Amino acid sequence: MGAALFKPVIHPDFHDLFSKMSFVDQLGFLLVHELDKRNLWHQMPVPIGLVYLTTRRTLLEKYDLKAVGSYQGLQFHAENFPYRTGDGKYNDPKNAEAGSQYSFFGRNMNPVDQKAELMDPDPVVVASKLLARRDYKDTGKQFNILAAAWIQFMVHDWMDHLEDTQQIEIVAPKEVASECPLKSFKFFATKEIPTNNDGIKTGHYNSRTAWWDGSAIYGDNGEKAKKLRTYVDGKLMIGDDGLLLHEENGVALSGDIRNSWAGVSILQALFTKEHNAVCDALKEEDPKLTDEELYRYARLVTSAVIAKIHTIDWTVELLKTKTMRAGMRANWYGLLGKSIKDTFGHIGGPILGGLVGLKKPNNHGVPYSLTEEFTSVYRMHSLIPSTLKLRDPTAKPGPSKSPPPYLEDIDIGNLLGLRGEELLSKIGFEKQTVSMGHQACGALELWNYPSFFRNVIPQNVDGTSRPDPIDLAALEGTILISLCTNTSKLRIFVLHQDWYHNSI
Ligand code: HEM
Repeated sequence: MGAALFKPVIHPDFHDLFSKMSFVDQLGFLLVHELDKRNLWHQMPVPIGLVYLTTRRTLLEKYDLKAVGSYQGLQFHAENFPYRTGDGKYNDPKNAEAGSQYSFFGRNMNPVDQKAELMDPDPVVVASKLLARRDYKDTGKQFNILAAAWIQFMVHDWMDHLEDTQQIEIVAPKEVASECPLKSFKFFATKEIPTNNDGIKTGHYNSRTAWWDGSAIYGDNGEKAKKLRTYVDGKLMIGDDGLLLHEENGVALSGDIRNSWAGVSILQALFTKEHNAVCDALKEEDPKLTDEELYRYARLVTSAVIAKIHTIDWTVELLKTKTMRAGMRANWYGLLGKSIKDTFGHIGGPILGGLVGLKKPNNHGVPYSLTEEFTSVYRMHSLIPSTLKLRDPTAKPGPSKSPPPYLEDIDIGNLLGLRGEELLSKIGFEKQTVSMGHQACGALELWNYPSFFRNVIPQNVDGTSRPDPIDLAALEGTILISLCTNTSKLRIFVLHQDWYHNSI
């Protein structure tokens, strides 16, 4: 099908790609593009919505996965690694390194040279004029603070750009300097690494394991994993008060402790306890299992529970449409549904049986990774409110699920990092969790970026604090999210933070 005929109805950005597509893909593209332009897909009856989502997924898998680095890696026999390794190696039998610690972030789009445009508009101006919180907006009854901490807990499982040793300074321009808590600050650039490959020439390493392997509680390498184990019945270390233990310097003992806060800390504690409970259940079932076997099985189970919560609870609540609910459940159980999968196991391919439990990995010809674009859109810092309303979990429950009595407001800025760990030990697991569950989180909108993030102390990979603060909103200033409502259309333009890190 010639692109020329359809030019008037296809956005110019897609003309080239459209002309390269097969006839069937062109038809699929036209369907998806039309529904997108009219913002209709989620309003269609669920079966049509599912056809839309499947077509879109197929097109994205074919045309939007770009390899960064080598396609081929070490091959191995899957039966030799029936468990998750510390550094995420040995998950794809055709490529042992794929998705492991310090492997490349992939891409959904080819990199574009941004050197000229990155400081225009100035990121500090963007932060001050478009991001900085004015009147706080929350998500009403849809999403609470536990849900906000959950996605950060996931980010700490999935991705973190490896930094260079070189620092870059940003100075607030005169026109906004008076509104900026920091008139200038320094941050570390993302490390640019040659791919030694045709195609994309340089890329960035992910210092977390890209797999959904629970690394936020188990760590991203073998050394860290060892440090967290008790070596008794497969269990992980946890404090008697139900909170994480700490090293002598105050850093929490958990898989990933960088740039965190009390909200993530309680989720790490919760899933550490879940791991230990799974160990107990497995041991009861088979008392002969060794410490190593219990640890490995419990890690597989706990990581799967985390992935399941994210897929069919968290995402469904975030996107809150019947079609997405059906779509996410189809991802997990397949169109055949839960009862067939629970009874007979995985049947058929990804559509009938779901993505979970496929016999072989299907990476669509590109080594598994998370992408730069994926990381950029997950910088959801506006989810964090300015204060946490502490509640009294010991009070008797009120009528019709009313929240427990309010005690006091705590500035969430005081719940970050090492200071936050100290404060959390005074608040306790139950009060912190119950309070987060009863308060809405921040809305992902413009002018809703927490003020304390404009003067925040970042941490090193080992969780220790850096000497100087940064303006996180300014770092996000290049992820310029411009929302234009035009008739019923909503367009989101995303400029990528990694271009910024590497180019100014
Ligand atoms: C209150 C707690 C939080 C703190 C203290 C915090 C702090 C930070 C810091 C210092 C960075 C590095 C910035 C840079 O170098 O560009 C960062 C990056 C990031 N944060 Fe947060 N953040 C918090 C909450 C969240 C939440 C709720 C999300 C939601 C998903 C999130 C997602 C991300 C992502 C995706 C990145 C980029 C990682 C990368 O470049 O690889 N953060 N955060």
